[in-house]
Amino acid sequence: MTAAAKPAQAPQKTILRALAGETLPTPPIWMMRQAGRYLPEYRATRAQAGDFLSLCYNPELAAEVTLQPIRRYGFDAAILFADILLVPQALGADLWFVTGEGPRLSTITDQSGFDALKPASAIHDTLAPIYETVKILSRELPAETTLIGFAGAPWTVATYMIAGRGTPDQGPAHALREGAPEVFDALMARITEATIDYLSMQIEAGAEVVKVFDSWAGSLKGEAFQRYALEPAREIITALKARHPDIPVIAFPREAGDGYIGFAKATGADCVAIDNSVAPEWAAEHVQVDGCVQGNLASSHMVTGGQALVEATERVVRAFSDGPHIFNLGHGITPDADPENVALMIEAVRNFRA
Ligand code: CP3
Repeated sequence: MTAAAKPAQAPQKTILRALAGETLPTPPIWMMRQAGRYLPEYRATRAQAGDFLSLCYNPELAAEVTLQPIRRYGFDAAILFADILLVPQALGADLWFVTGEGPRLSTITDQSGFDALKPASAIHDTLAPIYETVKILSRELPAETTLIGFAGAPWTVATYMIAGRGTPDQGPAHALREGAPEVFDALMARITEATIDYLSMQIEAGAEVVKVFDSWAGSLKGEAFQRYALEPAREIITALKARHPDIPVIAFPREAGDGYIGFAKATGADCVAIDNSVAPEWAAEHVQVDGCVQGNLASSHMVTGGQALVEATERVVRAFSDGPHIFNLGHGITPDADPENVALMIEAVRNFRA
């Protein structure tokens, strides 16, 4: 073989190709919460760490649980194992998890609560172990697997910092933004600044893509959606692109409905992740026209399985097959899911022929 005939560079990773706008014959696939309680090996490592937060702050074990679903299923991407609520903790909030119930935090209800927070520049003291996890992963992941870093979006993070827990309607956060807008805006600005720095550090440690989770974007309507979901996403993405122009960003304004339309263009996101409250055919027509989309199989199929799972999976792949697509669930996989159903979903995606 002459030098000129040598095979070209190995093809770029499939996730990165889809994020660059390429339509692939088979969509790359990963799954929100792919490292989690539905896996026995995750539960064993969490027990070894002691509890969930100790696992997040233990780089060796956090890297181990990140790798577990890659070994078991060969997903095309690994998502850093951590949590969106580590940023509030790094800003000085108390954080703990109540088994079977979820997160608890100290609450911010007024100016003095905001004033007690640390500056954004202080977060790295707490978050240094997370950057270490990213470094381990960028060494240990298979060459074809993309490493995704992440953070919560300011609105979603603020809802937990204000209420001190998950809330069905984000009532306390809406009350603060209406009743004390100066406190609320200051909090949003602090989280935004911390998030930009946190994601930048993940990128410098080796994250190849970052995703911003706005799980509660759906409770913001009209102008409030523009101001507290779209605008912070635009600010974060603009700042990241200035520092790291080649790193793709996935935005997930969950349950945004019509708000998904034009979200990528308005914010500069390379991909919009879609929840399963919208039909994939609708999202293909209205969102995928602007570029890559990720989603959107209902995670309940990971519990129920069977032919319905195969048909729903094929429907998602078919709906998005004319444009760039990353296959995923519409939200995280739940602890009661059957690991066999995950294998069935992956097989259905990879075997699909239009
Ligand atoms: O997706 C992954 O595998 C990466 C790791 C990851 C976790 N949380 C681990 C986790 C990611 C990306 C998150 C994001 C996250 N965390 C979000 C946004 C996405 C979403 O689900 O809407 C939110 C809102 C949180 C906050 C949070 N963390 C809640 C509300 C809970 C409790 C609910 C639950 O599922 O128990 C967590 C805990 C949590 N984060 C677990 C995991 C694996 C379960 C904790 C355990 O092992 O006991």
